This record gives sequence, structure tokens and C-alpha cells, in this order.
Amino acid sequence: MKKTLIYAHRGASKIAPENTLPAYQLASESGADGLEIDVQLTKDRVPVIIHDESVHRTTNGTGFVQDYTLEQMKKLDAGSWFSTNFSDCSILTLDEFLCWFQPLSMVLNVELKTNVIEYKDIELIVYNALKHHQMLDRTVLSSFNLNSITKIHDIDPNVQTAFLTSTKRYNLEKFAKHHGASSLHVKYRLLDKRLVKQCHSISMPIRVYTVNRPLYMQKCFKLRCDGIFTDVPHEAVEYRQKFQN
Ligand code: G3P
Ligand code: MG
Repeated sequence: MKKTLIYAHRGASKIAPENTLPAYQLASESGADGLEIDVQLTKDRVPVIIHDESVHRTTNGTGFVQDYTLEQMKKLDAGSWFSTNFSDCSILTLDEFLCWFQPLSMVLNVELKTNVIEYKDIELIVYNALKHHQMLDRTVLSSFNLNSITKIHDIDPNVQTAFLTSTKRYNLEKFAKHHGASSLHVKYRLLDKRLVKQCHSISMPIRVYTVNRPLYMQKCFKLRCDGIFTDVPHEAVEYRQKFQN
């Protein structure tokens, strides 16, 4: 039986600043199977890795990602908000990340942050970057925005896509499939045995976010979800050993 894959959510984001190289490095050393990253576009249309649409929570800057050029964005300190030990961290471009990640034998989830701002052509820009780095066969592209999913599916129907949702809906898996999603990424509170069964009955992988508590991990492992996103990949790897062999 297939194991539930463990994706480090924004890297090992409990012990290092989210979406930075140290967080990814620690996650890659944890035994996690994959990484999850959040992608947006700068003013000069460079894909960068950051979760919020505004830079103020995770850097020493203010204002929106879309109003920064890459050069301006690179000057921001993306680590000190977490701890002064990480004051040399800067925001990574997707290209920098992929150069580092490509040689590793891990899988990847790129979340397109298009639920608040619909960055024009982000789908094609990110798709081309993944293709350039030969990453398409081990990447799932996800979004809360169904337009993004449909656009990716139209660019390349073979690429793995996931509809992200925290909202209950009748026949959610069929709804996602109808819009071009090949998998479903759901908030933990939506998870139940029936949903897993329904997804698996149409061969659709189901992955769950953000699973940090041991009890929640246990439920995901017991239900044989296809993946979990966790801020604590080290702990998840240990728990999986207990509940899945
Ligand atoms: O992709 C899973 C999860 O990252 C979705 O929510 O807000 O943490 O990006 P968020
Ligand atoms: Mg995310």
C-alpha cells in the first residue's frame, strides 16, 4: 500500500522562516518526501516565493509583492522577523529555488497565489520555469483559484494540478475534476473517510493541509490520504513510521 507523502509546508516552517532556503534545507534533511512553496509575481513579472500578497509579515518591508521590482525585493530581509539568526535570508526567485531543488530526489507542490490577486500569465510563466528545470513530472501545481487550474490544464493536460479548498461542497472531487484538477488539496477540517473514498473511486489523489498535530496526522495516515502538508516534517516522518509500514 502506498504511504502518505509528507510535504513540508513552506519548508520546515516551524523551525526556520517560511519559504526561505534554510526552511527548505531543513525540510530536505527531515526525511520529508516533498516541499510546498507559494509563488507570486514581482512588478517586473519574476516569479518569487512568498506566501502573503503583502511583504510586511515576513520581511522588513511594507506594501505589495506586485509593486516591488525583483531588485527592490532582493534587498528585503526575509528572516529577522522569525529570528535574528536568519537575518541574511532573502526572498528566493522560483528559478533560484529550482536550481537548488532539481538535483534532490523530492517531489514538489507549487501553490499559485492567485486567490487574491490574479497575476496575469503567472500560470504560463511558472509552467515554463518548471519545464526548463525538467520538473514537470514531479510537481503538482495547486491554487485556490479555479481559473488558474483550468489555465494550467489548458496549457498542458498532462501536468498534475490540484484544487485547493477549505469549503465543503457536494461532490467536491467531481467539481474539481470538471475544472481540470487532477487532485484535491483540502483543509484538515473537510477530511473524512467518505471524501477519501470518493476521491479514490475516481483515482484522484487527496492531500490535506496544514497537519501539525499528532492526532490529525494519525487520522490522515489511517485514512491513507495521498499527502499531508505540515510545518513540522521531522515529527510527521516519525509519526508515519508508527502508523504506516
Ligand atoms: O498548499 C497548502 C497550503 O499551503 C494552502 O494554504 O495559505 O498555507 O498557502 P496556505
Ligand atoms: Mg501554500
